[in-house]
Amino acid sequence: MLGASILAADLADLAAQVKLVEGAADLIHIDVMDARFVPPLTIGPPVVASLRRRTALPLHAHLQVEEPERLVDDLAEAGADAVSLQIEAVEDPGPLLGKVRGAGMRAGLALAPETPVERALEHLEEVDDVVALAVAPGFAGQPFRSEVLPKIRALRKEIEGRGLEVRIHVDGGVSEATAPGCLQAGADVLVAATAIFHAPDVAEAARRLRAIVEAA
Ligand code: DX5
Ligand code: ZN
Repeated sequence: MLGASILAADLADLAAQVKLVEGAADLIHIDVMDARFVPPLTIGPPVVASLRRRTALPLHAHLQVEEPERLVDDLAEAGADAVSLQIEAVEDPGPLLGKVRGAGMRAGLALAPETPVERALEHLEEVDDVVALAVAPGFAGQPFRSEVLPKIRALRKEIEGRGLEVRIHVDGGVSEATAPGCLQAGADVLVAATAIFHAPDVAEAARRLRAIVEAA
């Protein structure tokens, strides 16, 4: 699957940017940042609600915020389909993952590059998505860190071994060059911002990444 991350899109023209990727992307990835967990401040539930009216694609909120529990109800109301939170932002993600699922959304855990994969393995039964970051959370346009690949392999092995249906997303630095290695390692969803929205032809860039996913 392909996730288009709007962090690198023209946010003043968001609905049109999303339309450009609708033929190729399987979901829209929305980076919610609070200027505390990470330095930038981005967007939140009101923008999710506006986007909800403009696209039928699933909306996946990737929370890079402290106290992520404060956003769950608003995101559900805004029409988000999935919420993933950074495991580093909470002491015990269990109750919050339960709350996300209870609100009818897919629940996920995201892992920064320094965070050991074992932290997510402890919670695999409680999640629908794991977002393995291949860059430091906070910014689009950083180079891909290949330390993510063994993490993806470990996740894939555990998910299959336990017979689970968890999707592995790889997020950050995904391009036509890095995508094949991620898919080979066992990623289900490639998430890309710069490679799509900074390309001269946004729709074509999304189609090319989608073709790589389909060839895998
Ligand atoms: C980083 C975000 C990523 C980001 C990826 O904090 O979680 O979703 O948008 O951007 P690129 O694809 O440019 O690395
Ligand atoms: Zn993200």
